Parts: sequence; structure tokens; C-alpha cells
Amino acid sequence: MAILVTGGAGYIGSHTVVELQNAGHDVVVMDNLANSSEKSLKRVEALTGKKVPFYEADIRDREALEKIFTNEKIDSVIHFAGLKAVGESVQKPWEYYDNNITGTLTLVDVMRKHGCKNIIFSSSATVYGNPAFIPITEECPKGQCTNPYGWTKSMLEQILSDIQKADPEWNVVLLRYFNPIGAHKSGTIGENPNGIPNNLMPYITQVAVGKLPKLNVFGNDYDTPDGTGVRDYIHVVDLAVGHVKALAKLAPGSGLNIYNLGTGVGYSVLDIVKNFEEATGVKIPYEIKERRAGDIATCYSKADKAEKELGWKAVNGIREMCEDSWRWQSQNPNGYED
Ligand code: NAD
Ligand code: UD1
Repeated sequence: MAILVTGGAGYIGSHTVVELQNAGHDVVVMDNLANSSEKSLKRVEALTGKKVPFYEADIRDREALEKIFTNEKIDSVIHFAGLKAVGESVQKPWEYYDNNITGTLTLVDVMRKHGCKNIIFSSSATVYGNPAFIPITEECPKGQCTNPYGWTKSMLEQILSDIQKADPEWNVVLLRYFNPIGAHKSGTIGENPNGIPNNLMPYITQVAVGKLPKLNVFGNDYDTPDGTGVRDYIHVVDLAVGHVKALAKLAPGSGLNIYNLGTGVGYSVLDIVKNFEEATGVKIPYEIKERRAGDIATCYSKADKAEKELGWKAVNGIREMCEDSWRWQSQNPNGYED
């Protein structure tokens, strides 16, 4: 039996395929390559020494999904496929709701028709909105999202929970990621953003490699130790391992389970700049700018539940996250185009 990884050519998906194959799981990947390159999967194959069966297909394409579920023996799905650019989602809400929500509804419908009722879903700390308390436990109430991307995650959590409630044969794991950064130690797979990065670490690495002149720090007047935004950065390989561990919660009768995947430690923007400079020896010029609309001051997890129930804990510290992000970026200044 195999695990279908939707969005498996992407940043978190490709790292998860490595960890799944290394743990002995059979994997099938589907991706429409809207935000990725098939080259990532070739590099995964080079890392694991195993073939990655790949279908170039869209999760909204019912026929393509039917073909995959007919050809392959799929017993579980790890569902990464989705659009994720916050700013773009504000400009193109219909496209985001269609891709993420219609796509997931179609996927889940084909799954149940084929008797496959096990899914791990990529959710986000964004569902907590401006969190009611810090550190954020899974009991923290969901909040108001500030953009359509965030709402797709919040709504899909509700949809998958309702489907599981109506049919207890479903086993659903909702994984709420905090801020994934870093790359595989080999430096051969990593994050490959289109255009100018929105997120902090890819922006910093592009400054470091000389593609961008300086970092803009969005606000230094937050109620945080140095005034800049605090986040829970997690190494993408730790996050990938979290998915392998979460497979245990797809055993029959597991029902609905929700986990934060974070480290439990918050770092400010300036902490990240300092750690990056120390880890790599590369100076990051920066300038303080206005706050970015929709940003919150502080967001970090309490990740004890995943440790207790899944036996999972992030092992990489901020130093490794910076070193590994830099190894990927410096070896691949143009991502998979090199
Ligand atoms: P990514 O863009 O690198 O990967 C997503 C993959 O899904 C891409 O390869 C893309 O081509 C594919 N895809 C998009 N729409 C598709 C469709 N309709 N059909 C088939 N494939 C499609 O992003 P990522 O950072 O690896 O994120 C993976 C998942 O985790 C996403 O659902 C994202 O929203 C979620 N997530 C990411 C972060 C983050 O900071 N990276 C944080 C929280 C949650
Ligand atoms: C963003 C998204 C969130 C998504 C998450 C992971 C917003 C409002 N939220 O979270 O929905 O789940 O990415 O992909 O976009 N910063 C700078 N300069 C930069 C970039 C970022 O100072 O050029 C600061 C931000 O203000 C923030 C921190 O760095 O304090 C982290 O930003 P970012 O990497 O974009 O992640 P989030 O804002 O946490």
C-alpha cells in the first residue's frame, strides 16, 4: 500500500517524501507544478535511491484523481497541495478558494469512493488569528484570519472535521505548522519561491546571495523584547518527520487529531538576522520599515501534545535552520533553474 502525497514536488512535500521513503514507506506524488519543479523529485530520488512515482495532475481534476486511485493502491493521503501566498490570496480570492477548497472537496470525494479515508492535512498557525494566548496550545480558539489564504485553512479544517464526524471511518490529522525554514542537509532540495519572497528567511538568503540589496524589517514597535515580530521557526526536516510520526494517527478508530508542529521557542526578526550572520559569516544589511498589514506581534507554539502523543519533537535549532537555508540558497542561487 502507498501514501499519496499531493503537492509532493513543493517545499515541505519534497522533504516529506524523503523522510517517508527513508522510513520505508511507498509513496506516490501528484502535483500540478503550479509552484514547483519536477526537478525536486529527481533530487529526492538521488537522496533516497528510490523511484518517486509521479503524476502531473491537479487536485480539482476528478478524472486524473480517479486514474491515480485506480492505478495505485493508496491507503492514506498526505495533502500538501494548495496555493499559499498570503498577498496574492487577497488579490485573487476566487482562485484561492477554488484551488484549495474545491480541490480538497474533489480529492476527498474521490478518496471515499475508493474506500480511502485516511488524510493528513497541512494546516497553519494562521488559523489562530491573533492568538488568544501565548504559547499557543491546540486548545487555543481559532481566530479571525486576515486573508483568504488563512480562511481556506480554517474552513478546510472545519470541512474535514465535519466529514470525520459524519463518518467515523475517517481518520483525519490536522497539522498546524508554525514557520517552516531550512532545507535538507545536502543542500539539494529547498524552498524555491517565485519572484521576490514574502517570507523572512528566503528574503534574507536572497539578500545574502546578492539578489536583493537589503532586508526590510516590518516594524520595530511591537510589544516584544526588541520590538520586532516574534515567530516559532521550525526546520523543514523536523516538520517532515512530524508527518511520518503522524501516520500513527491514521490507524483505524483514531478519529480526528489536531497537532501544533512548532519548536515552542520564539525568535524575533533581529534574532534571525543575528543568528544567520553568525551561522554563515554573511552580513545582512537591513532597514526598519512600517509594520506589514495583517502581521501580529508574537506567535509561538506549545508543542507538547505532538511530543506526548506522536513521540515527535523538533531537534534542529536556529543555528542549523540558518546554516541549512544558506547551504541550499548558495548552492542553488536560482533554485531549481540551475
Ligand atoms: P509549495 O507551494 O512549495 O507546495 C505546494 C505544492 O502544491 C506545490 O508544489 C504546488 O505546485 C502544488 N499545488 C498547488 N495547487 C495544486 C493543485 N490544484 N493541484 C495539484 N498540486 C497543486 O508550498 P509548501 O510551503 O510546501 O506548503 C505545503 C502546504 O503547507 C500548503 O498547503 C501550505 O499552505 C501549507 N503551509 C505552508 C506553510 C509555509 O510556511 N510554507 C505554513 C503553513 C502551512
Ligand atoms: C506568513 C503568513 C502566514 C503563513 C506563514 C508561513 C502573513 C500575514 N502571514 O506568516 O499566513 O502561514 O507566513 O508561510 O503574511 N518580516 C520582515 N521582513 C520581510 C519578511 C518578513 O520583517 O521581508 C517579518 C514579519 O513582519 C514577521 C516575521 O518576519 O514578523 C516572519 O514573517 P513571514 O516569514 O512572512 O511569516 P509570518 O508573517 O509569520
